[in-house]
Amino acid sequence: MLVSRISRLSTYFTKHQKTRVPCAASRCIRYLQTSPNSYHGEYEYEDPKSEEEVVHVTYIDKNGNASRIRGKVGDNVLYLAHRHDIEMEGACEASLACTTCHVYVESDHVDILPEADDKENDLLDMAPFLRENSRLGCQIILTKELEGIQLRLPQATRNFYVDGHKPKPH
Ligand code: FES
Repeated sequence: MLVSRISRLSTYFTKHQKTRVPCAASRCIRYLQTSPNSYHGEYEYEDPKSEEEVVHVTYIDKNGNASRIRGKVGDNVLYLAHRHDIEMEGACEASLACTTCHVYVESDHVDILPEADDKENDLLDMAPFLRENSRLGCQIILTKELEGIQLRLPQATRNFYVDGHKPKPH
């Protein structure tokens, strides 16, 4: 009886509420809450749907080479960089546990970005080559006001991977 009840509930949730699945533990039924299917950086792999949402970003690598990228409102500049093979590492995948996404905001946009919170500031304090315009790239989300933003990569970042591993976006 318990099995058939689970089966009915499973069908219900599959149809109506994909993120909840029932499970049985001893004699009671509990529900596991799961996250919707979304992956870090998935959104950044979508092209802008209209010109209104386009936001151009210029990345300048440590050799001074500039790449002008067509991003869009809502893009995280770390994952946008990954999509376009810009060498911004992002070892902790935007979980505010590293400094490998360190960038310098070269344009006046530095003044209109939301203030860095305490956690970002604490991490920036550990970043090599810290400057006044330093920010963590994974905390910059594109808005229309950021059109034309220029982000320069520092000469080096602190890599927590001792073997030099660079994670690939997934
Ligand atoms: S990727 Fe680690 S703090 Fe930005």
